[in-house]
Amino acid sequence: MRRLLVTGGAGFIGANFCHYWSAAHPADRVVVLDSLTYAGNLASLAALIDAGRIHFVRGDIGDAERVGALLAAERPDTVVNFAAESHVDRSIEDPAAFLRTNVTGTQVLLEAARRAWGPEAAQRGCRFHHVSTDEVYGSLAPDAAGFTESTPYAPSSPYAASKAAADHLVRAYAHTYRLPCTISNCSNNYGPYQFPEKLLPLCILNLLEGRTLPIYGDGLQIRDWLHVSDHCRAIDLILEKSPPGETWNVGGGTQEPNIIVVGRLCDLIDAAFAADAALARRFPHSPAARGGSGRSLMQHVRDRPGHDRRYAVDSGRIRARLGFQAGTALAAGLEATVHWYLSHEDWWQSVVSGEYRQWYARQYAPQARP
Ligand SMILES: NC(=O)c1ccc[n+]([C@@H]2O[C@H](COP(=O)([O-])OP(=O)(O)OC[C@H]3O[C@@H](n4cnc5c(N)ncnc54)[C@H](O)[C@@H]3O)[C@@H](O)[C@H]2O)c1
Repeated sequence: MRRLLVTGGAGFIGANFCHYWSAAHPADRVVVLDSLTYAGNLASLAALIDAGRIHFVRGDIGDAERVGALLAAERPDTVVNFAAESHVDRSIEDPAAFLRTNVTGTQVLLEAARRAWGPEAAQRGCRFHHVSTDEVYGSLAPDAAGFTESTPYAPSSPYAASKAAADHLVRAYAHTYRLPCTISNCSNNYGPYQFPEKLLPLCILNLLEGRTLPIYGDGLQIRDWLHVSDHCRAIDLILEKSPPGETWNVGGGTQEPNIIVVGRLCDLIDAAFAADAALARRFPHSPAARGGSGRSLMQHVRDRPGHDRRYAVDSGRIRARLGFQAGTALAAGLEATVHWYLSHEDWWQSVVSGEYRQWYARQYAPQARP
């Protein structure tokens, strides 16, 4: 039986991980530490909290006293660090917040784990797993092979730079103090509980509410799409099978440009409305409610500064050594995601706050058009 501390468990991937873990390992104790920024939503964990399957603690990973006290009280043997500022556009607006949480916060957690676990941490089976991103590797040329674990770091945005710095700190703690750490660098996740500032849920909600679908630049930025359930399974495999000190790249194996993915969402929403007349009554502003196509809402806007053109992850190593294979095809994963948002309107209505609406208005102001 493990005792897990999951940081950032009220965010998109963290919440999916909590649902996954409590189903896959019901005997384990799971404590979530999350400061509930705009991106953290207790609504994503409510069912697990109410059922006593996880225990929620509100707090900042950068608060050394709070983190130390929590480790002393809960005595976790496993820390999975999801907590982060995660949105590239926001990192361009305010990089300092990204350094505070992603860099200093990670170091505070590492130090607390080192002190709590002592020099015998590895022998006692303790593990610090850090969740990172493929964005640390920078942008790939159109015909280049995917990022491997030995691709040099070349982060482009303040977000990616802060994640790269955190990865270096995790490696430094593993090397200097023999802290048993692992890192996973994964590609773009999608699925349930994703906050609507990110491309897929933003487009799904805009399609339902008849707002334009902002396409950055030419929309041909290629991403490697990973269903969040596959990512959760990959982390489970790493915790179970990987020796400490290893880094693992995790990709979905499907590279597709943003504009194509957005087009697929339009078609899925159109098809859902055609199959269910009640949707037109629930979402009368959607073009699909009037028999139109969501594609009419697609609009090119000025590209993000320094926008990476292509990410693609080579998952060969985790496949060969740990037996990981992404099991969700993009078409099926997108369809399931669209249906999840259609049937969880309460969730997305509850997480879209005034702060988010102001950010949205700033980000997609009319002058942002090319
Ligand atoms: N979403 C992706 O596609 C993706 C891809 C690669 C890597 N990642 C990484 O996975 C992790 C999770 O990403 P996500 O998309 O779920 O992010 P998210 O923004 O949805 O969630 C982040 C969570 O961390 C919490 N948090 C933020 N600052 C905190 C702090 N100082 N102390 C405690 N909690 C804090 C937030 O409240 C939120 O619940 C991040 O580390 C991110 O860099 C995400």
